[in-house]
Amino acid sequence: MTRRPIVAIDGPAGAGKSTVARGVAARLGFTYVDTGAMYRAAALRCVQNGNDPADAEACGAAAAAMRLEFAPGAGGVQRVLADGEDITDAIRTPEISALSSPVSKHPGVRRAMTALQREMGARGGVVMEGRDIGTVVYPDAEVKVFLTASAGERARRRAAERAAAGVEADVAAILREINERDERDSTRLEAPLRQADDARLLVTDGLTPEQVIDAIVAWANEAGEGAP
Ligand code: DC
Repeated sequence: MTRRPIVAIDGPAGAGKSTVARGVAARLGFTYVDTGAMYRAAALRCVQNGNDPADAEACGAAAAAMRLEFAPGAGGVQRVLADGEDITDAIRTPEISALSSPVSKHPGVRRAMTALQREMGARGGVVMEGRDIGTVVYPDAEVKVFLTASAGERARRRAAERAAAGVEADVAAILREINERDERDSTRLEAPLRQADDARLLVTDGLTPEQVIDAIVAWANEAGEGAP
């Protein structure tokens, strides 16, 4: 039996990956996997254990020992569980957002998360969002998209999201954060953020989420033609 397609969506912070990936998964009836949430969970576990986030060995061991699951929640929100504990909100704090990038560069952390991501997609029918899905996790994914937007556009979107959540938002500070995070994520040795040679580039400035979702769904349908 031919597997259902894997849709790999990579790109920098604030490109709109989550909204788009969730929308594509809903339209296709595929499972949505947010791999950023997995690296955030690893960072949280590292802190909860009292480990130094710079300690590659300790963070790698903590990530490998953690049992990570996604579960459907109220209102279609996906919950993240680590060893049975609901950490959905705990991984979205500014502290964990800042720590997830340095923790995600540890080889042991990446090995553990990559193995889990490959298990989650083994039967196909997934939309997986991250930084290295089309390059490292699923280099043979049927649909590979590199989703990006200008840094200014991404900062404005993040600020609007935070403002909507009632959090004070300073666009200039967010732009600095985004540039720093992009720089760290693209220059690290392990699985740096980069567009796979055969990924389709989608620059989302001026596009609505629906337009982006439509384009990716059409590519997935093309790729899935002939599959049962
Ligand atoms: O997408 P996000 O902001 O939730 O990701 C959190 C961090 O995890 C970010 O700094 C990059 C890292 N990450 C990664 O290294 N590889 C992935 N596949 C996904 C996220």
